[in-house]
Amino acid sequence: VIALSRRYRFPAAHVLRRADFSEDENLRVYGKCANPNGHGHDYALEVTVSGALDPSGRLLDPARLDALVDDALVRRFSHRMLNDDPLFAERVPTAENIALVARELLAGPLAERAGVRLRRVRVRETRNNTFDVGDLR
Ligand code: NI
Repeated sequence: VIALSRRYRFPAAHVLRRADFSEDENLRVYGKCANPNGHGHDYALEVTVSGALDPSGRLLDPARLDALVDDALVRRFSHRMLNDDPLFAERVPTAENIALVARELLAGPLAERAGVRLRRVRVRETRNNTFDVGDLR
């Protein structure tokens, strides 16, 4: 099996708080990320796909993957307040949830590519925090 990983960036803002938590609970659970004014991150998204090679000797043209990720996710989230996106209406936009949402957004378009499978989505929020969803090997 051949795997291809490509990396994308999208700067975005979020606030980590729950409406059903008190101010103290929000501060305790989310720390300074609960600040209602929000703050930004320069998110890095790494998408890994795997599959068989086509007759051209490629798994998936990286330019096609780029267009797919751009259409499904990067343009949607880039320079946005993530809390305002309907996908985060019921979920706090933690990096964990961003990774899960990213997988949801990419799974459909990628499923249309015969023989290509979405293996892993990795979201890097800060230098020290990276979150993976998918095949964790
Ligand atoms: Ni944050």
